[in-house]
Amino acid sequence: MALDPNFAVPWTEMQYGTREQYAHLGAAFEQHARGALVDNLINLLGLLKGPTLGYQCDRYSHSLQSGTRAYRNDESVDMVVAALLHDIADGFAPENHSDAAAALLRPYVDDETHWVVKHHGLFQGYYYFHHHDGDRNARDQYQDSPYYDRCVDFCHEYDQNCFDPNYPVMDIEDFRPMLDEVLSRPSRVPGVAPLPG
Ligand SMILES: [Fe+2]
Ligand SMILES: [Fe+2]
Repeated sequence: MALDPNFAVPWTEMQYGTREQYAHLGAAFEQHARGALVDNLINLLGLLKGPTLGYQCDRYSHSLQSGTRAYRNDESVDMVVAALLHDIADGFAPENHSDAAAALLRPYVDDETHWVVKHHGLFQGYYYFHHHDGDRNARDQYQDSPYYDRCVDFCHEYDQNCFDPNYPVMDIEDFRPMLDEVLSRPSRVPGVAPLPG
């Protein structure tokens, strides 16, 4: 559908829209959202640059290390993208960054990858919850999940060990073809509203 860049609806309240207008709005938003998504995510990941919060590297480097290790370990493109983006929500959803990242990836990645990202924060707690007087084995409530072992491995191989400022990471642009592949897939989530509103 060729879109008229000068098109604008004559109304200011969605309740007055027509089917034809919404067809145009839907196509315009789809084109924009799809076209800008990877750049937006890369920019969002860039918010993690800077503060190291007491670690030896910032969370941007942590993210690149995670994605790089997953890539070098011949993980699926879903898992590489998930590793790169697993902490992308740190800057705007600090209380539930795992849930937020999983929701972001949900339309595009397989069930296992989504599950791993959604639960990685709790599973990662194995390495430190007990130092906060918590239960490091809290993740065992998910022992019956078919993805339990995968999430254990993800945290061990691509998360808890990714705080090394000297690890040779890939450049963010090296990940772009993988981001393009995953994020250009048709949405797996049915019934999602295609418009901002
Ligand atoms: Fe995390
Ligand atoms: Fe992490």
